[in-house]
Amino acid sequence: MDKRPPGWPLLVALVNGCGGVTDDRLTTAVRDKVVLVTGASYGIGEATAKRLAAAGATVLLVARTAAQLQAVATEIRTAGGRARVHPANLADPAAIERLVTEVLRDHGGVDVLVSNAGKSIRRSVADSYQRFHDIERTNSVNYLGPAKLVLELLPSMRERRTGHIVNVSTAGVRTPPLARWSAYLASKSAFDVWLRCISQELRHDGVTTSTVYMGLVHTRMSEPTPLLNRMPGLTPEQAADQVCRAVADRPNNITPPFVRPAEALGNLLRVPTDRLFEAYFRRTSTRKPPS
Ligand SMILES: NC(=O)c1ccc[n+]([C@@H]2O[C@H](COP(=O)([O-])OP(=O)(O)OC[C@H]3O[C@@H](n4cnc5c(N)ncnc54)[C@H](OP(=O)(O)O)[C@@H]3O)[C@@H](O)[C@H]2O)c1
Repeated sequence: MDKRPPGWPLLVALVNGCGGVTDDRLTTAVRDKVVLVTGASYGIGEATAKRLAAAGATVLLVARTAAQLQAVATEIRTAGGRARVHPANLADPAAIERLVTEVLRDHGGVDVLVSNAGKSIRRSVADSYQRFHDIERTNSVNYLGPAKLVLELLPSMRERRTGHIVNVSTAGVRTPPLARWSAYLASKSAFDVWLRCISQELRHDGVTTSTVYMGLVHTRMSEPTPLLNRMPGLTPEQAADQVCRAVADRPNNITPPFVRPAEALGNLLRVPTDRLFEAYFRRTSTRKPPS
């Protein structure tokens, strides 16, 4: 039963769009394909892996928490699907090299990469003076790790002249910049732009990319931010539906309806928009200004 407050599901559909993929369409697209899903231990990645496996894909589950990956794999196998567990820390380039060697040895190749693993931080710059590692960590997981994984998988994809890469990005890289989200949004933006640049070099070799500019999803990631908990957002399964549409239809991008107007407003009225968010930041800040 849907336990969300009345009115939320409609609002969520209006804001995020309701275009997912049917089970039949997904099955036609992924049956007997090998799909590697990063961040498959929790949240959107877990829900995506389960949906893909139910549609007949062999899913390769990647994240750090081996026991949780095993639990997801067991659930998939019990339901009649195929799943393999490949624990790896995407912040470690050597671990990614080992992962890809293992995957190519065991499975011959990867048809679809769902680059979903991510790390979110919401912290003001004043609280970050002694925390340069926040910037390092978000970049490791949201930009450098995914880029390294793509670099390792691309040679085999290009050689086989087939491959698809789905980037689970955030609507926040398209809407005006927001105070306190600097480390997270900068790292997500970096991978978004990197992938869009290389995408132009890959299509000719049969490799395509899709970017899902995801709106708010209620997961472990959004949980620590009380404001987000009070806002209408997608369930992990609804988010997985969008990711699976990207897998099946290979669109250039999936963009929720609210993003384009917000993006246009931010571009056309950049200074007033910055001032608006600045006012919100000051109103919600508990820190005293330096005397
Ligand atoms: N939730 C939202 O509102 C929202 C909105 C827009 C976009 N997104 C994006 O959606 C993606 C999934 O987020 P989620 O909400 O499902 O978050 P989540 O529930 O916290 O899941 C994050 C996943 O990433 C994995 N991960 C984190 N660090 C890793 C590392 N160093 N190496 C390997 N795996 C790592 C985690 O597994 P382990 O901890 O086991 O390693 C987990 O499986 C992220 O890229 C996020 O930026 C989320």
